[in-house]
Amino acid sequence: MKAHKTKVVERIELPDREAREANLDEAGYNVFNLNADDVYVDLLTDSGTGAMSDEQWAALLRGDEAYAGSESFAELESAVEDVMGFERVVPAHQGRGAENLLYGALVDDGDVVLNNTHFDTTRAHVANQGAEAADCPAEIAFDADADAPFKGNFSVDRAREHVERVGAENVPVVVLTITNNSAAGQPVSVANTRDVREFADEIDATFVIDACRFAENAYFVREREPGYEEASVAAIAREQLDYADALVMSGKKEGLVNAGGFVAVRDPDLFDRVKQRAILFEGFPTYGGMAGRDLAAMAVGLREAVDLARVRDRIEQVRDLGERLRDAGIPLYWPPGGHAVYVDAGEMFAHVPTEEFPGQALVCELYREGGVRAVELGEFAFPGTDRPDLVRLALPRRTYSREHVEHVVDTFAAVADRADAISGLEVIDEPEMAELRHFSARLQPV
Ligand code: F0G
Repeated sequence: MKAHKTKVVERIELPDREAREANLDEAGYNVFNLNADDVYVDLLTDSGTGAMSDEQWAALLRGDEAYAGSESFAELESAVEDVMGFERVVPAHQGRGAENLLYGALVDDGDVVLNNTHFDTTRAHVANQGAEAADCPAEIAFDADADAPFKGNFSVDRAREHVERVGAENVPVVVLTITNNSAAGQPVSVANTRDVREFADEIDATFVIDACRFAENAYFVREREPGYEEASVAAIAREQLDYADALVMSGKKEGLVNAGGFVAVRDPDLFDRVKQRAILFEGFPTYGGMAGRDLAAMAVGLREAVDLARVRDRIEQVRDLGERLRDAGIPLYWPPGGHAVYVDAGEMFAHVPTEEFPGQALVCELYREGGVRAVELGEFAFPGTDRPDLVRLALPRRTYSREHVEHVVDTFAAVADRADAISGLEVIDEPEMAELRHFSARLQPV
């Protein structure tokens, strides 16, 4: 059963092969440099790229643009309280703005922050405070073939090793990222969340949940964690988030909007500190860098996020893409995540050495073959980190149909057929900050 029908459409077109070749060349073999107009199916990210509902568009028109005390902010506050169980909310322009507000208030020079796996912007904000970002993924997280229910879990054992190394007094914050984007979008169980809560209490740390994809995570809990089969996604989400002291949220994911985010906290004193930082970096704390109308649309989006039919559609579409690719013999990280399927380009193009970026070569071939845009998350994006050469296919929410999914699978099949003939790439121009090179570097075929 589908949870939506289409009300507004956007025309798309697949440029012909010659045009795709020329676009790729002009983009320096970096798909961040393509015009979106020249992309047929865009799987670059699930962030801010989904479709809003008619209810959200209606809310947009009713947005209250008051500088202070906006009615739209009150709507957001009440949605965050109802859906996520937090009374104190500070909006921000997007997730990383929220991270800046919260981690700036909680983390000092020399501290260590523990996370199941830091997303890139989270790591950068921890580093920006002069602190160390230490990952504590489950043992199984990077085993691409282990079909386990909660590969996104936080390893309390690993976390204890870090605490022994640096002392509990230097670990002010423990973060749980649900789902775990940097570990192939894998979910975290409620039982694990409870364990992390206990661990945070033990070392007297603030327990933060990065809730970007909280409803997708709740859907997996319903499906995979014993005892939750009959529970609603809304109830599971509430239970899981109830364990946290604070949330950071990118509304561009499961706020179901194109821009926005927020911090939510329980402690009044922390709330004051976050609000002061908001005034400095984002805007007055009742708008935090967002237009009133966008606050209003996000308030509606949060309520829609936990609708079972909505999230089922979403997860099943991602899974369908994964299963079709697997059936076509494409090597994948298994099982598919909540927002994306991760392809093992290192295995698919085993003849291309890591230094020649098999992942980026695959990304370029997908565009050349079918106008499909994906993102490399291996040696090109994270130089020298020893990560597997994965390519992420992230599905925007409520956007593409089964035909688009089939087109992606057909594109993969065609690329796989001529895999042996595909060569690697070399960087010919890159920015000073190596960590940011995948956004702007230019390459050429070897
Ligand atoms: N935390 C997680 C887990 C994320 O996935 C992201 C963004 C952020 C924080 C930052 O939020 O983009 O609103 O500033 N992830 C996007 C992605 C960019 O493509 O995975 P933001």
